Amino acid sequence: MKIGFIGAGAMAQTLAYHALRSGHQVMLSNSRGPESLAAVATRFGCQVGTSQQAAEFGDVVVIAVPLYAYNRLPKEQLEGKVVLDLLNYFPHRDGYITELNSSDTTTSELLASYLTGSKVVKAFNSITVQDLQRDARPQGAADRRAIPIASNDAQAKELVAKLIDDFGFDVADGGKLSESWRFERFRPAYCVAAPKDKLERILASTTQDTVVADGHWLHTRYV
Ligand SMILES: NC(=O)c1ccc[n+]([C@@H]2O[C@H](COP(=O)([O-])OP(=O)(O)OC[C@H]3O[C@@H](n4cnc5c(N)ncnc54)[C@H](OP(=O)(O)O)[C@@H]3O)[C@@H](O)[C@H]2O)c1
Repeated sequence: MKIGFIGAGAMAQTLAYHALRSGHQVMLSNSRGPESLAAVATRFGCQVGTSQQAAEFGDVVVIAVPLYAYNRLPKEQLEGKVVLDLLNYFPHRDGYITELNSSDTTTSELLASYLTGSKVVKAFNSITVQDLQRDARPQGAADRRAIPIASNDAQAKELVAKLIDDFGFDVADGGKLSESWRFERFRPAYCVAAPKDKLERILASTTQDTVVADGHWLHTRYV
């Protein structure tokens, strides 16, 4: 599969590593242009381009930018595409976004409200980049952890679920984008290392009132 990346930082490079390792084609992009990615292209043996080119390239396009840049994405080139949404909301970095602070919407719905023609799938927001580097396991491994996923589009969700499996993780179904608050920051499922069945139980038992301290995953592992 062809995977375009908008953003070429820590998360994009780690996912690109897993994608290339599992036989996919990759194009990375950032805000400064492809020239700034020459060394990365050589190191990874992947293509680089502008954000517009990465969007056009990908069967799946990974959005690996800070949330504050969501409404600068190449909307036209992302029309009809499966968009993999990694975004998390950090007010100190992203600015104060009223709808997110009031929990009226999810970060994914905010992205989908901008990318109206795209098939948004939320995944990989709920694992730290360090864990993404070290926790990938082959299918069937006893300590294989799961990644929560949400989308309103069943086919797009299935496609991203296949990628998650290729990258070395099981999938925990988190429902639709409107339900993806269950694995946003300050929720028990967020960044927690857990197998599929445990993570799905955590997601199901999380209510709007279930809140945990920042960094809780550092002292909570189930695999
Ligand atoms: N780090 C983690 O552990 C982690 C875990 C889960 C989810 N996430 C989320 O994943 C996303 C990426 O995180 P990260 O840690 O990889 O960030 P990062 O290392 O800071 O990289 C951000 C990337 O986004 C690019 N970018 C910024 N604005 C852009 C724009 N308008 N158009 C195109 N590219 C743009 C930057 O390019 P330039 O440098 O050229 O500006 C950079 O390559 C964030 O939303 C983060 O919250 C992070």
